[in-house]
Amino acid sequence: MKPLARRTDGLEQSSIRAITLMLRDMDGINLGQGICDMPTPDPIKQGAHAAIDADKSIYSYYGGIQPLREGILEKARSFNRIPAQSLDNVMVTVGSTGAFVATLFTLLNEGDEVIVFEPFYGYHVNLLRVMGAGIRTITMQGPDWNVDFKAVENAITDRTRAIIVNTPGNPNGKVWSRQELMTLLDLLKKHDLYAITDEIYEYMLYGGREHVSLASLPGAMERTITISGFSKTYNMTGWRLGYAVGPEHILDKMGLLADLIYICAPTPLQHGVAEAFSMPESYFTEMAQAYAEKRDVLCRTLEEIGFNVPWPQGSYYVLADFAPLQNRLSGFSDDEEAQLTLVQKAGIGTVAGRSFFTHPEDGATRLRFCFAKEMDVLEEACRRLRSAFGSTG
Ligand SMILES: Cc1ncc(COP(=O)(O)O)c(C=O)c1O
Repeated sequence: MKPLARRTDGLEQSSIRAITLMLRDMDGINLGQGICDMPTPDPIKQGAHAAIDADKSIYSYYGGIQPLREGILEKARSFNRIPAQSLDNVMVTVGSTGAFVATLFTLLNEGDEVIVFEPFYGYHVNLLRVMGAGIRTITMQGPDWNVDFKAVENAITDRTRAIIVNTPGNPNGKVWSRQELMTLLDLLKKHDLYAITDEIYEYMLYGGREHVSLASLPGAMERTITISGFSKTYNMTGWRLGYAVGPEHILDKMGLLADLIYICAPTPLQHGVAEAFSMPESYFTEMAQAYAEKRDVLCRTLEEIGFNVPWPQGSYYVLADFAPLQNRLSGFSDDEEAQLTLVQKAGIGTVAGRSFFTHPEDGATRLRFCFAKEMDVLEEACRRLRSAFGSTG
């Protein structure tokens, strides 16, 4: 038979799924996948029930139902301080992933280059590959994950179209400072580039960090697509609802493309999630506080065991380095062996470091842990890790 399209070459299921299956058979705890298993807020669930009961079951406008777009516009203006003017600056998508795909389709021709910072979120890079884009990676160095802007400028060529920024970041928890974003914006303007920002962890910040949206800086919105969604903030990854904020002429085309790909986000669920905007301020502060406590529990445990831990500034992941364990313990020769060792000896799932780097060797001594778990589950996971791997203390 004829071969499949070239864009499918190299696409394969990551080890996350295999690890998930192994854990299921042994009553393990999965700190690998970025899934928050806390409950979705009641007002959102009730809003969806009411919409289903009222037969709000038909296609919506491809950009989303009006009350939801109004909520997103208001949030983009007040929380993100983005100078969006009208509903035409806002569209609802199937997850923030849907927004990201529509953005790439709209901005990139095959062969255009995009700059990505690593460690990166795998979907960004894999979707760029599927699009046939050239990918230039700039490596950030822990523990603060500083950006070498000279290297960024050196990576820009005639073919560069866009730069992707993920703040707060997955997997390293980097939160871009206002100063860094201003420096980046200078480069965007100088070289006439677009920015695509993924801000899905925007409410999860630690140690007094502030979330700054690039598009809020003067002159940035006209060249920035800001992407976010409801999956993480409201514990509803399976509902598949996200959004983009950006210039009208770009969103126009993104909407038409999203219409071709999936027509619209599920209508009754859009009605439900519109209730997200009536959540009180305390919802967000309590969530951030709860994640801060979970961050402490996990990071301290990993440090006690001997991991080198760059504490995340935001999001709910830790990309920890097990190099210091290699002398003391067996089963840690590289990230894949370490991932297996944690499953077999402690029943704990993680993600191998290579998933976040272009060159697997750059992630060879790292594992990503996710702390979006109920506290008792996270504490049990930490107990198992300590009892399996001891402590250096
Ligand atoms: C950085 C980042 N962006 C996007 C997503 C996916 O978001 P959504 O569920 O809105 O498609 C994830 C999920 O892990 C993520 O880590």
